[in-house]
Amino acid sequence: MKLLVINGPNLNLLGLREPAIYGRQSFKALENFIWETCQQEGIEVELFQSNHEGNIVDRIQEAYGVFDGIVINPAAYTHTSVAILDALKAVALPAVEVHLSDVSSRESFRQISYAGMACVKTYMGLGFEGYRQAILYLKALLGGIISE
Ligand code: DQA
Repeated sequence: MKLLVINGPNLNLLGLREPAIYGRQSFKALENFIWETCQQEGIEVELFQSNHEGNIVDRIQEAYGVFDGIVINPAAYTHTSVAILDALKAVALPAVEVHLSDVSSRESFRQISYAGMACVKTYMGLGFEGYRQAILYLKALLGGIISE
């Protein structure tokens, strides 16, 4: 089982960035957390972070035929990007959306998620743990333990 984990803009500044909302742990710590989770679960993983919408679209397209599923935190592009939504729909890989913060209780402009419309599940407000939940969900789904 091979998963692609995509993180969008400004997530590379975790730790520095609005710590009251996103916590004090660095992006490197998040990457290590994802690596360790996947290692424990026997899952092969690739991590990708970009601040550029088109690069995220390219990476999703390249995932076709290579990865079994996608975990994606599109960050601010969540609320704006029809291109990321269309790319997820195009490759039709099972995708799970993650947000560190509870976007449902934040500003009104964060209430729409385009990417989420192409995702089988969303985890929000759980911090790093949301990524673990997303990985476990995809493992169960791809392993046939659960169905959407
Ligand atoms: C975020 C929430 C988004 O609204 C925001 O633009 C981000 C991070 C989160 O992980 O909580 O950059 O996706």
